[in-house]
Amino acid sequence: MRYTLKQLVLSFIVLLSTQAHAEQVGLSQEKSTKYFPEDIFHCYFEGNTKAPLVISPRLEESVDIIAWAKQNQSKIAKAIQEFGAIVFSGFNLTKDDFFTAFEAVTGLKPAGYKGDAPRKKVGENTYESTAVAKGHAIPLHQEVSIGSRDDMPQYISFFCVIPPKEGTGQTQVGNAAKISEEIARLMPDLWKEMTEKTLTYTARYLPEKSLRAKWIQRVNPSHATIKTLFGTEDRKEVEARCQNEGLTYAWDGDWLVVSRKGVPATITVNGKALFCNQIHLERLNPKLCGGWLPYICAKAFVYPSKRVLQFDVQFDDGTPISVKDASTLLTILEKHQEGRNWKKGDLMVLDNATTLHAKTVHSGERKIQVAMAGSVKSRVLLD
Ligand SMILES: [Fe+2]
Repeated sequence: MRYTLKQLVLSFIVLLSTQAHAEQVGLSQEKSTKYFPEDIFHCYFEGNTKAPLVISPRLEESVDIIAWAKQNQSKIAKAIQEFGAIVFSGFNLTKDDFFTAFEAVTGLKPAGYKGDAPRKKVGENTYESTAVAKGHAIPLHQEVSIGSRDDMPQYISFFCVIPPKEGTGQTQVGNAAKISEEIARLMPDLWKEMTEKTLTYTARYLPEKSLRAKWIQRVNPSHATIKTLFGTEDRKEVEARCQNEGLTYAWDGDWLVVSRKGVPATITVNGKALFCNQIHLERLNPKLCGGWLPYICAKAFVYPSKRVLQFDVQFDDGTPISVKDASTLLTILEKHQEGRNWKKGDLMVLDNATTLHAKTVHSGERKIQVAMAGSVKSRVLLD
């Protein structure tokens, strides 16, 4: 076989770059090359992390990742299933590619968001990531795990339009199997209840005009009003929406109290129960507030009684969940949280059943878009 000079030079560069990345690639190489050929891609974990798996081109501009993904979609689906979290980095993708790249990688078109976090639409079923202040982190969670499993997406994907300042604003991930093992070991009673019982999540929404609502929104802008969530304060319209969505509702004065009952606290994957709930986010606790002082202030001045809490959660049979347990869950979750810095054009795809995601505090402008599709309920395990 004859080689052109260009082919020889390219082969030499590939050989050099293979050696240079051998250490970085580590144990992931053998497994990941089943899905991503090593003459085309580098597959590695950054630093000391075990997730997400990063896929980069060996040669700049050597591969059109959208075209390659379309041809190799089942391989990518298996890789997402095996690794839980994958980032395609260095493929010169732009925000205009997000919808198409998501479809090429997952085999599904982005679908509408069915959760209740405030999200701004930026394109057809693509959204801005949850708007939180720079100083706010979002702990690990699975998307829409407080809702019906039909509404909980199989895939969630993030696209980096503008990366925040290096070392901040990471979208970190956590392995649900490892988290579950640790909860079962350290909190066996709570884990047993999680696997045997279902949960009731309660949310209270504020009337737009009351003085009390204005005060609460001033100190906690994320506490939604009825208007922001439903687009109206007309009781009949609000009640019809709740009924359509299978939600239990009640009026407490001019506050709206909405409950979701019968929500599982775990999800079964490969015959194993995995952590899948938001107890740590919905049960007000010191760790969630950022320490004991802000927690005590929140209890004293913003949410002085259970009746006015923004969110709450208990088991359906009425068993309460202690503040201490919610705080311990957060500690366990934080321990399993890891990630890397965003680079412009990065596309991250997660298996939303097996992999949790979080956001760390950020500096500078940060623009991350989100898309999701599929349902964990109809999720098919691939061989
Ligand atoms: Fe999320």
